Amino acid sequence: MKKFLLLLLASSVITAQAQRRQPHNQEGIDASVLQAKTLAYTEVEKRILVVLGDLDQNHRHGNMNVPVEDGRLLRLLTETTNAKNVVEIGTSNGYSGLWFLMALQKTGGHLTTFEIDRNRADQALANFKRAGVEKDVTLVFGNAHENVAELKLDRGIDILFLDADKDGYIDYLEKLIPKLRPGGLVIAHNMNTRQAHLPFVEAITKNPKLETLFLHMDGAGVSVSMKKR
Ligand SMILES: C[S@@+](CC[C@H](N)C(=O)[O-])C[C@H]1O[C@@H](n2cnc3c(N)ncnc32)[C@H](O)[C@@H]1O
Repeated sequence: MKKFLLLLLASSVITAQAQRRQPHNQEGIDASVLQAKTLAYTEVEKRILVVLGDLDQNHRHGNMNVPVEDGRLLRLLTETTNAKNVVEIGTSNGYSGLWFLMALQKTGGHLTTFEIDRNRADQALANFKRAGVEKDVTLVFGNAHENVAELKLDRGIDILFLDADKDGYIDYLEKLIPKLRPGGLVIAHNMNTRQAHLPFVEAITKNPKLETLFLHMDGAGVSVSMKKR
């Protein structure tokens, strides 16, 4: 009898350990159902998504655009924080800008975006027009390291997005963080371990005034830092 009880106890310990190792959804859903796309809810969203889809499918080459999932993240962060004033460094042909602009249609805000390359800047202007959002965006052509000093704002920046020269992030951060409102976000792209620039990583992780998370690190990598109140 004693032997039987010991055996029973041993087998239930083994079963409990095995159960703990099981993933929750072992018999659950197929991972492909988690790959949900953005569904257009309004006519405005539909119009912008048409242009985003075209840029994603046909015009990525040479434009270094953010991946779709990162664009969706930018839109979510902008809309959920009710951001009115978004500043982007590195417009390219306007792909990430259009994700911001989709959110700004809802918040009633404005995007100011900086680009040094004339050809990409012209493509961006055409794409903003095509999506019908040109009145909600100001494109500043030229070297953003110089031009951000001229940024005229009647209120603090809600979201600063860095996606230009990686070793320049630290300079953009130092120049623009005083203009970021308390509770505002600095979002930086290409923050994976291969591409991130160490002085910038240290600046956003070692400053007690900032709370920083790293997201989508299996892809290009995005850092999101909140300026504390
Ligand atoms: C990675 S791409 C931006 C992609 C864009 N955010 C998107 O996802 O569609 C970087 C852009 O920054 C621009 N750039 C690089 N250095 C710059 C500078 N000093 N001032 C302004 N733009 C700059 C480049 O010409 C390039 O178009």
